[in-house]
Amino acid sequence: MFEQVLAEVEQQCREERVPMLGPDKAKLLASTVEKAKPSLIVECGTAIGYSGLWMLRVLKTLGSGRLITVEINPDSAKQARENFEKAGVAELVDSRIGDAAEILKTIQEPVDFLFLDNNKDGYYTCFKAIEPQLTNPAMIVADNIGRADQMAAYLDHVRSNYESESHWFERRGRRRTDGGEETNRGPRRRGGGEGNRGPWRRDGMEVSIFRR
Ligand SMILES: C[S@@+](CC[C@H](N)C(=O)[O-])C[C@H]1O[C@@H](n2cnc3c(N)ncnc32)[C@H](O)[C@@H]1O
Repeated sequence: MFEQVLAEVEQQCREERVPMLGPDKAKLLASTVEKAKPSLIVECGTAIGYSGLWMLRVLKTLGSGRLITVEINPDSAKQARENFEKAGVAELVDSRIGDAAEILKTIQEPVDFLFLDNNKDGYYTCFKAIEPQLTNPAMIVADNIGRADQMAAYLDHVRSNYESESHWFERRGRRRTDGGEETNRGPRRRGGGEGNRGPWRRDGMEVSIFRR
């Protein structure tokens, strides 16, 4: 059932142009969670739960760990909750609605994994909001670093203070006005022009190890 729900959510994201990580980046995220074996993941930007499902599948396999995921759009958050229920992982996830920068300030537990995938200009504010709760060390993954101009304060901070690595991917799609990105449309083919699927873009994820 889990795999079917994940496939349906991916399909819905493609059809309805809901922004999502896409399978290539999701694999990197999942393998980072697998290595970190976190007790508590905080995700900023749930959308309809695609990336959440990838992380929850790892937590379920590990047999430990929980996810708090934050989404500002109530309709998206509702769909995500339904998807977590359908996939049988709802007991591992606490889905909250609101501005991530505000919600993160209310989390009182130690956080050993942070995934940033919300409004890009909010990454540094979200990081500062949760910093007091971050364990030493803690893993931080940030999506969409191709838009470095929108998250300059965040990237400058992690790259100059912590062990931090950029992982690059090529993806196809147009940028959206709401800060998201259209869905990943699969691998690049030779001779493929822009067509109606948008130009090729280089985008990536920054994986950083926070230490005090
Ligand atoms: C790129 S999408 C997230 C994709 C999702 N992580 C996935 O891969 O399935 C960004 C999401 O962040 C949400 N968002 C934007 N600003 C936010 C904020 N200040 N707080 C929380 N969520 C926000 C948007 O509504 C959108 O659903």
